[in-house]
Amino acid sequence: MSSSKQMSLLLMTILSSFLYLSVSSFEYEIGANEGWVVPPANDTRIYNDWASENRFQVDDTIRFKYRKDSVMEVSVEDYKKCNSSHPNFFSNTGNTVYHLNHSGYFYFMSGVSGHCERGQRMIIKVISSDQETNSGGEKSSASPSAPVLSSGVFKALLSQLAMSYVASYVFY
Ligand SMILES: *[C@@H]1O[C@H](CO)[C@@H](O)[C@H](O)[C@H]1NC(C)=O
Ligand SMILES: *[C@@H]1O[C@H](CO)[C@@H](O)[C@H](O)[C@H]1NC(C)=O
Ligand SMILES: *[C@@H]1O[C@H](CO)[C@@H](O)[C@H](O)[C@H]1NC(C)=O
Repeated sequence: MSSSKQMSLLLMTILSSFLYLSVSSFEYEIGANEGWVVPPANDTRIYNDWASENRFQVDDTIRFKYRKDSVMEVSVEDYKKCNSSHPNFFSNTGNTVYHLNHSGYFYFMSGVSGHCERGQRMIIKVISSDQETNSGGEKSSASPSAPVLSSGVFKALLSQLAMSYVASYVFY
């Protein structure tokens, strides 16, 4: 193989992995219509029900939209007690994007007094990418929030595109 061809292949490989990375993260929005609010009294598990239907991966983000409220990321102990005195993360801008930067569990709650107790809290389980390949299941578009686009489909399309591009180089 000529060195220029090798170089092209190398570039393609880098480019396709870059494409892959750039689309592999995914933004979820909490509460499609109402946003991040105190849930109705007869539906206090609404956020955890939604979270358990989704498959969050490292580098996905979650958008919280709210008015006169806040978002905290706290320890599991503080989550259980609705203790807002020392959050790991706090935002009250009304439009918060939280980056899920590692696998494992994230615990969110409202920082407004009384809201967490009434169900405005949520546990997010983030899977690492090697866990992903071992398990089935689909990202759910159930309420209260719908993912913008299925990242799985997008990834499959892109890797196909990258492969045919590489192939056209090899067989040229
Ligand atoms: C909660 O109550 C409202 C009306 O008060 C009703 O429309 C809704 O279906 C109920 N939700 C659940 C989960 O029972
Ligand atoms: C919250 O946590 C802090 C520090 O751990 C503690 O001092 C405080 O008593 C806790 N508050 C409640 C309501 O549990
Ligand atoms: C994730 O982000 C938090 C703050 O946003 C930071 O403290 C923590 O070190 C980060 N973890 C990793 C694994 O990057």
